Amino acid sequence: MSQPYDLLAQAHQRAMEFLTALPERAVAPRTSLEELMAPLCGPLPEAPQDPVGIIDDLSARLEPGVTASAGPRYFGFVTGGSYPVAVAADWLVSAWDQNAALHIMSPAMSALEACTARWILDVLGLPEEASVGFVTGAHTANVTALAAARHEVLRRARWDVEALGLQGAPQLTVIAGEEAHASIHAACRMIGVGGKTIMRVATDGQGRMRPDALEWALSATSGPTIVCAQVGNVNTGACDPLVEIGELTRENGAWLHVDGAFGLWAAASPGYRRLVSGLADADSWTTDGHKWLNVPYDSGIVIVRHPAAHRAAMSQTASYLTPGQGDERDGTDWVPESSRRARAVPIHAVLRMLGRSGLADLIDRSCRLAVRMADRLSNTPGVQLLNDVVLNQVLVRFSTPSGENVSDQVMAAVQAAGVCWCGGTTWAGAPAMRISVSNWRTSEDDIDRSAASILECHERVTAG
Ligand SMILES: Cc1ncc(COP(=O)(O)O)c(C=O)c1O
Repeated sequence: MSQPYDLLAQAHQRAMEFLTALPERAVAPRTSLEELMAPLCGPLPEAPQDPVGIIDDLSARLEPGVTASAGPRYFGFVTGGSYPVAVAADWLVSAWDQNAALHIMSPAMSALEACTARWILDVLGLPEEASVGFVTGAHTANVTALAAARHEVLRRARWDVEALGLQGAPQLTVIAGEEAHASIHAACRMIGVGGKTIMRVATDGQGRMRPDALEWALSATSGPTIVCAQVGNVNTGACDPLVEIGELTRENGAWLHVDGAFGLWAAASPGYRRLVSGLADADSWTTDGHKWLNVPYDSGIVIVRHPAAHRAAMSQTASYLTPGQGDERDGTDWVPESSRRARAVPIHAVLRMLGRSGLADLIDRSCRLAVRMADRLSNTPGVQLLNDVVLNQVLVRFSTPSGENVSDQVMAAVQAAGVCWCGGTTWAGAPAMRISVSNWRTSEDDIDRSAASILECHERVTAG
């Protein structure tokens, strides 16, 4: 058996090899499920095994099946890479192995969360009194925010939902745009609002909620109401008109939640902030660290203007859970978890490394590169740009000279070619391909190489 910590050097070595090769490896994995499972899914060993051997074996056997999603030409879903400083900070998080639930468990993590929360509010221009929770992702952030919203709108209707549940409660209405992200629907289910009962508001051609349709929806309802808006449509990047939505929501005494899993970061750029005008007047916000901020998975952030509602919806007490005193922050008060990873550490490291101007540069650069990609692809017969490229998303549809939609075939060819990776979607009822530029490493050359590969695949597919 090797020394207990030799394997950390070994893992470091393997990680360095992986990261060094990352920019030039084929973006899609080159192995089958059977090839991956066969050597790994044997019987559980009866006797202990050498840890260094385990790390070597895992790295050798799993890496062929690892997607280069942290690399510069992965444009699938909305996927950031990880800045080296964030990976390094995350390694420290594992080594420290702190439970970031309570101040008493780790004063250092508690202090760091509190300071990082302030930086996030500052850089996004959100109210300084808002509370911040560090969760696994935007999905959980949406659940948390809607639970806080549910608490507050029912409290105003004199109903204590944490004590009494929803049976017999005043009717709770959720209004969301037709283009709200799937996680809003999942979050509604988790707070006891059935998916079919969500009032869906019509959107425009880019997926933005239409204020006139919201006005109608609000006039058709009364009582405790939550409105879910979105900045950064997953297909088009479009942002809902928050100024109008905010005015209508406030007039009706409703709660305004803004899902900005990636789009919220537009607020950090003087050049793009106008897209999210009115943002600071909402009641709650969702965003992700693992998307545009480029910290490792998993990392989501929930922000609530009303800390009392946020805490009431999330916090728990037990005789053995000693709460923080005074300003001591208990991270668990703001999330639907107890024991938890210190996710604020890599976020802190990235915000500190970039500073205000570096973060704005990251946002601006990604958006510029998205426009470059759109320019490279458009003006080609059979390639139709479907969105106004306002942020970091590009949406395209491919067809043959006879007009047959071949987007799925082109996407499969792009993935197989391995230069870059793009995923599919349905837009206006027909297949399309999404290109999301979210990685700190992506360069102009990466865009040009990827666009060339995409156009070549389109040519090959249409040539038959
Ligand atoms: C607008 C929006 N909300 C929520 C999510 C869910 O994010 P996560 O996968 O981090 O939970 C996404 C993911 O792309 C998104 O685009």
